[in-house]
Amino acid sequence: MPHDSIKEELIGLLRDSREQASFLGELGVENIALGSSSTQNAAAPPAITAAAEAAIRMAPPANQQPALQVPRRQTSPASPPSADSLFSEAATTAPSLAKSSETLEQIWTDIGECTRCGLCEGRTQVVNTHGNRNARLMFVGEAPGADEDAQGKPFVGRAGQLLTKMIEAMGMKRENVIIGNVNRCRPPGNRQPTLEEAAICRPFLFREIAAIQPEVIVVMGNTALRNLLEEREGISRVRGKFRDFRGIKVMPTFHPAYLLRDPSKKRETWEDLKMVRDFLDGTPSRQD
Ligand code: URA
Repeated sequence: MPHDSIKEELIGLLRDSREQASFLGELGVENIALGSSSTQNAAAPPAITAAAEAAIRMAPPANQQPALQVPRRQTSPASPPSADSLFSEAATTAPSLAKSSETLEQIWTDIGECTRCGLCEGRTQVVNTHGNRNARLMFVGEAPGADEDAQGKPFVGRAGQLLTKMIEAMGMKRENVIIGNVNRCRPPGNRQPTLEEAAICRPFLFREIAAIQPEVIVVMGNTALRNLLEEREGISRVRGKFRDFRGIKVMPTFHPAYLLRDPSKKRETWEDLKMVRDFLDGTPSRQD
């Protein structure tokens, strides 16, 4: 190998390991070589996994109906969609998502004080997508928790603080990106939204995606994965490979709340985020 390419490779490795050290270090991972944390709670199993993976296995196959069918405003909880319709808007075989001329405000006005599903009963407020509407990168999580419900913004609690560190480790700022959830109302006891609740709420996320047109979406955890991609496997099987959501690149990775429970997954998450960073670094911004 010529001298210069060895040098470049070494510089690259050094950069990667420095960034990884900073990411893992900031997250409280002291034993970088082992990829595990002295603060790791090895005894705590990821509560989401069994239920989520069972739900994924039971989920109906996607069909290929047209996308972006959005329930209109209702004054009483919507009746749940049929199982067959749950994946209709997420079908990855559907054509590319055309840029819509809707503004986020128009979408949020349409959402209003939403009562389309039963989650409205326990929430303090609707938590809409938040961040830079010209962002190249979007993050999508599951649903607001207690802090988000109180403050009206996604990812402001402990998981949100970790997400901010992840974004910064990528060399970006939180203000550069946009962050949303599949569901906008806090589920009671922070339970996972049901398939029906997710199917009622996600068309608004799809409308936002069409309006924002991010170049990459990072889906965090099983709920986001299942609702954006035609995917029955769990996040640990599909993470780390770019997928497609209607012409937009999607990177599935672990949810930051899961990383808080199992810090050993930070190393893989960092690998996924580096792929996203490298893709964005190597692709001219659509706005340039
Ligand atoms: N977890 C999520 O999935 N979303 C939030 O906004 C906060 C925690």
